[in-house]
Amino acid sequence: MAVDLLLGLQWGDEGKGKIVDVLTKDYDIIARFQGGPNAGHTLEFDGIKHVLRTIPSGIFHDKAMNVIGNGVVIDPVVFVKELEGLDKFKIDYKAKLILSRKAHLILPTHRLLDAASEAAKGKAKIGSTLKGIGPTYMDKTGRNGIRIGDLELDSWKEKYRNLADKHEAMISFYNVDVQYDLDEMEVEFFEAIERLKELTFIDSEEYFHKAIKAGKTILAEGAQGSLLDVDFGTYPFVTSSNTTAAGACTGLGIAPNQVKEVHGIFKAYTTRVGSGPFPTELFDETGAEMAKVGHEFGAVTGRPRRCGWLDLVALKYACQVNGVTQLNMMKGDVLSGFKTLKVCTAYKYKGETISHLPYNIEPENVTPVYTEFPCWKEDLTKMSNPSQFPKELNAYIDFLEKELEIPIKIVSVGPDRKQTINR
Ligand code: IMP
Repeated sequence: MAVDLLLGLQWGDEGKGKIVDVLTKDYDIIARFQGGPNAGHTLEFDGIKHVLRTIPSGIFHDKAMNVIGNGVVIDPVVFVKELEGLDKFKIDYKAKLILSRKAHLILPTHRLLDAASEAAKGKAKIGSTLKGIGPTYMDKTGRNGIRIGDLELDSWKEKYRNLADKHEAMISFYNVDVQYDLDEMEVEFFEAIERLKELTFIDSEEYFHKAIKAGKTILAEGAQGSLLDVDFGTYPFVTSSNTTAAGACTGLGIAPNQVKEVHGIFKAYTTRVGSGPFPTELFDETGAEMAKVGHEFGAVTGRPRRCGWLDLVALKYACQVNGVTQLNMMKGDVLSGFKTLKVCTAYKYKGETISHLPYNIEPENVTPVYTEFPCWKEDLTKMSNPSQFPKELNAYIDFLEKELEIPIKIVSVGPDRKQTINR
């Protein structure tokens, strides 16, 4: 059987957690393939709101197995808190959650290094979530990292000490004020490691190989968004992993020819949290209204998200890089009652009008070219069928489908599982 992918097409926070949760009933296995606790996937059902960080969004379903793949970075301290958060739902995570031995560990000193590195950047800071993501992936590619599988070896603590000592020396090189008590952090860390060891560690490539052979259905759940991809995003204002489709292959150990459907998730407008270029950003009341109505605050850091119009140039690029086969549009309900809607269909760039994403998209290099639409007035949140959609919403959807040449299969009209409309 095949593997389907579910990916964010903007700068993260598109609502991937909700859609994975909605789709999980159709899959045997849900797998995370990159990122770590910088993610905050929000799920709402039965009046409960829950935010997942590293654990796949299939954990609330009875049937699905949840796998944390080799491409993920795990902070044991955050992870154990996440497990404890599941206790009240009586979820048997020891049976339903398994971890790749090749996933890397975020150490306390990785978090400190993140803080030191950001502080040293001053105004050029990335706006990292400061969860230690960048330094952990640096150690992975630098071949210094500690992996989940190392915890099964007696020598891992020696390896840990050497790496933590090296990190402390590096922190002092940054010459910034980072206050910390490593002894205290390590007590929490080693306790969390013991809890982590109660879970099952697997050779995940072998696991997926067998699962595919046995005809199991697999959904790979992306974190962050395509424009935060370390290669294809707005570098250096990106995260440190491949958030795009190719990352699912390297982050799980599945071959490209096993991938079938690619679900691309996007909001009906655009948001970004942290620094970096954002051509369609709004600095006026309209942007403030999007933020207010859409509750645009980071699920992990609580930071306000920057808001702006839908950028079709960037969205088309994300669809191409990922090979998106079907689209899911989120949060159209937030725009109800706006006077007009704008969609960026091209950029003015170096005296020309272009429709592809260029190397430089800083405000001084690109000016968005907009197409305007009348907006729908109706409250979409109670709707349950596309036949109820106002004509302005249908016109918006038709326009996007025509431009992107990909069908919009799901329209989400609110945070709850039930507020999901199939077209
Ligand atoms: P880091 O991955 O925590 O180092 O953050 C790098 C950049 O990616 C920052 O601009 C963050 O705000 C952004 N970022 C990281 N994770 C997420 C996410 O899950 N949603 C939205 N933005 C994110």
